[in-house]
Parts: sequence; structure tokens; C-alpha cells
Amino acid sequence: MLVVDFGAQYAQLIARRVREANVYSEIVSHELTAAEIELLRPDGIILSGGPKSVRVEGSPRIDPGIYELGVPILGICYGAQLIAQQLGGLVTQFDAGEYGRTELQISGGRLLDSQPLEQDVWMSHFDCVTEVPKGFAITASTANAPVAAFENSHIFGLQYHPEVSHTLHGQQTIERWLDISGINRTWTMSSVIDEQVAAVQAQVGSNRVICGLSGGVDSAVAAALVHKAIGSQLTCVFVDTGLMRKNEGEQVIETFQKTQGIELIHVRAADEFFEKLEGITDPESKRKAIGELFIRLFERSAGRVDDARFLVQGTLYPDIIESGSSHAATIKSHHNVGGLPEDMEFELVEPLRSLFKDEVREVGSELGLPDEIVWRQPFPGPGLGVRIIGEVTRDKVAILQDADVIVRDELSKAGLEREIWQSFAVLPDIRSVGVMGDERTYGYPCIIRAVTSEDAMTADWARIPYDVLELMSSRIINEVDGINRVAYDITSKPPGTIEWE
Ligand code: XMP
Repeated sequence: MLVVDFGAQYAQLIARRVREANVYSEIVSHELTAAEIELLRPDGIILSGGPKSVRVEGSPRIDPGIYELGVPILGICYGAQLIAQQLGGLVTQFDAGEYGRTELQISGGRLLDSQPLEQDVWMSHFDCVTEVPKGFAITASTANAPVAAFENSHIFGLQYHPEVSHTLHGQQTIERWLDISGINRTWTMSSVIDEQVAAVQAQVGSNRVICGLSGGVDSAVAAALVHKAIGSQLTCVFVDTGLMRKNEGEQVIETFQKTQGIELIHVRAADEFFEKLEGITDPESKRKAIGELFIRLFERSAGRVDDARFLVQGTLYPDIIESGSSHAATIKSHHNVGGLPEDMEFELVEPLRSLFKDEVREVGSELGLPDEIVWRQPFPGPGLGVRIIGEVTRDKVAILQDADVIVRDELSKAGLEREIWQSFAVLPDIRSVGVMGDERTYGYPCIIRAVTSEDAMTADWARIPYDVLELMSSRIINEVDGINRVAYDITSKPPGTIEWE
């Protein structure tokens, strides 16, 4: 399935909904010609929403030749208006527009035939189709949109957004469209695994392959998948910086070496990192120091793997869409600490490049990785180094690890773990006075940071219930030596960032 992007966020969401209906989908530019689209041999084409008006000159179009290909087409919002306009109907500007929840009245047609005749849908438009092209039937309307849905034998248009969850029967509509268009719904995570196993085997042949494990979800799942494909030809390198969360290093070793039986080079480098970080307080200098040392250690270990020609990367589909090309051959700069050097001469193996994050998690579970890894929160490459303000020392890392594990533990006990994008503790470079028993204390405060987010570009502070915060606070103060005060960060992003440095 091709989802044509007209420059709004909708395309990604639509692509995900189609995949949830077990059909593989890819996002493509509206600049592709009909001939180029035909070469991709799609089973169907969805024209997505967009922020512009089809009535304005210069707004994005699609080659009208696509309507002649005989491929099923679904237009959504802007896409529906474009269909109407390009095939000879009329699109008119509205006085008021319709935004948000709107009542839809269904009057016929095949697409909506098994749904309640009146239902709530999500609208967001100021233009509206007022006349459908010849040969099309109007199948639904709203109080302000005389044409909210229209169809002919293989082309369908919806003024509303079936991909958003506020449209109650939205997913049903997408699935119904796939079914009446005769599209096989057989794409599953096991078919992805089979396909990628074959692709990796074909790509690397009998060569040796290396993979840097960061402890994060993407590299973990990529490694497990490549291991399934080529077994002992894969060697993983895990640089243990000593800046990971409590017990995370051990867990990587346990999972990959012991459980999955993957050959692993474990670089125990905590001493070197602490030595390097001595006296450094500036955030950027800290990041740079960690990044440089990481690369040096990784290179040294990778160099020990004779004849390795391939490097596994956990690149995901959104990385590729964001980089604006269909082939992201460059190494993700933020993938590991500071990125890997450009002059490393490896060919990349990217078995997750067609997947969204939630799909990667599903693949990980199918491959037998434990929940602790599959559901691990995003974690910055420089690790706790950017959560300790000021100089990073072994003692401060130990204090922060103990506080951090309590934050996650209490969130998980409260059943809130999966609603939260990231949750952690931060150790600032100040101390304050307190009293415990009859003793005056002078210790570090610890700041709890917990955010909700879709993609880390924006984030909001999580409304954690007071009693959960209270438990975190009293446990941290009672159980963690060196901390005598707890604060909660209530800054959204922007203006704050998720991390403190
Ligand atoms: P900020 O703090 O910029 O973070 O709001 C956005 C997301 O990126 C993560 N992050 C990093 N990830 N290497 C990474 O792989 C890094 O150097 C790095 N710095 C921040 C952060 O945890 C959040 O999810």
C-alpha cells in the first residue's frame, strides 16, 4: 500500500493504521509520477491529508495519471478534495470550516455499509467538496459538509479522518476499504521476521557481521533478528560505560550472551570513563568526552573481529522518512554515543528500516527478548552522564542509580509504566539542609522527571498521582544515602528538554 504524503503528519498515522490491518504500507512523495507509482506495483493508494488548500495555486498535486492505473484509491481530507477537483468535481471554501468531533450521516454506498447511519467522526477542514465528479455517488454528509464521503467503483473519498482514534469506526472503515479493494491482509510480524531473515542472509552471505549493543530496544531487536538469520557469524560489541541504569549492563550480558547465545565482546570501560570525566562540568564537553571515548573503544573491539565487513544498525522507518530519502545510507548520528565515525568502512545491515517503534517491540517479543528490554524506555547515549549536573563521579552515579530504580519501580507498581515515555531521576550539583531523626543533614536533592510524549519532539510532564510521588519521595529519602530532598520537574518540552543536559 502506498500512502501519498501531502506534507502533514497524517501520512505516518495512516501508514500505521494500514499496517495494523495487516497490510504493509510505505509513505511516498506526491511528486512521484503515475509511471513511477505503477513500477512500485501497489495494491492500493491512499492520498493523505495536508495543510494546504487544493484551491490555491502551487498546493501539492498528484499526477492525475494515477486514476487511470485501475488501482484502488482512497482519498482522505485533502486527498479526497484533490480527487474531486482533479476528476472534474467542485471544491469550495467554507465560511466556518469544521474542526473536531462532528456528526456524520451515512446515506449509502459500499464503504460505510455495515456502520451505524449516524456516528461521530473527526473533522479538520475549511474547504469542502460541493460537487462530486461524474460517475461518483455521495455516500455521507454532515451539517456543514454536503459531501463527507463519495465513491465510484474503485475510488473512494472521505472528508473526515478515519485514522484518528476519535473517529469511532475509523479503523473499521480502513479495513472495509482494504477488503472491498481485494487487498490481502496477511502482513504480520512473523512474516516480517521471515522476510528479513532471508534478506540478511542474502546480503551478508558467509561474511562476519558486527553489531554495537547500546542496551536500547532498537539495537537489541536488530541484533536478535540478525542472529536468527546468521547465527555465529554475528559478534556483538557492548561497551559498558558505567553510566547505565542500575543492573542494565548485567541484563544486556544475561540476555544476549547467556539466553540468546550471541557471541559478545563485553568492554568493561567504567574506569576509563570516570577517569576521562574527571573535572568536566560543561554539558557539551561531557557529551563530547563520553562520545569520543566510546568510539575509540568500539573501534578497538570491532577491529578484533577479523574480516567483519558488515555493521548492524537499528535504523527505524521514521528515521528514514525524516531524513527525506528512501535510502538512509548514513549512520544515524544519535544512534550511539555521539555516533560512529564516518570513515568506518562497513556496509550497513538495517533489518528494522521498514518498521515503526511499536512494530519493533512486537518483533522483539516474537524473537523471545524479555519485556525489560523490549519495553525499555529511550535512554540517551551518554547515559547518566547527562543526568548528573556538574562533574560525574562514581559515587554520584551510584546515588543516582539507586534513586532512579525507585522511580521506575514505583511507576511500574502503579501500572503507569507504559503510559509514560520516559521517567528518571536527575542529580543536581547542589546540596540543601534537612533533618532526619534529630540529625541535621546536608545532602543532594533529587529531581524526578517523568514525561508523556509521542516522539520526543514535544513532551508534557506526566500527571503522576500524588500518592505515587509521595511513595517515590519517601523511599528515595529513606533508602538512598546522600539524598535528603525530592522535587518533581513540571516543565513541558518546549521550553524544557526531556533531559537536563
Ligand atoms: P531532549 O533532552 O533533547 O531529548 O528533549 C529527546 C530524546 O532524545 C534522547 N536523547 C538522546 N538519545 N543520544 C541518544 O541516543 C543522545 O545523546 C541523547 N540525548 C538525548 C532523550 O532521552 C529523549 O528521549
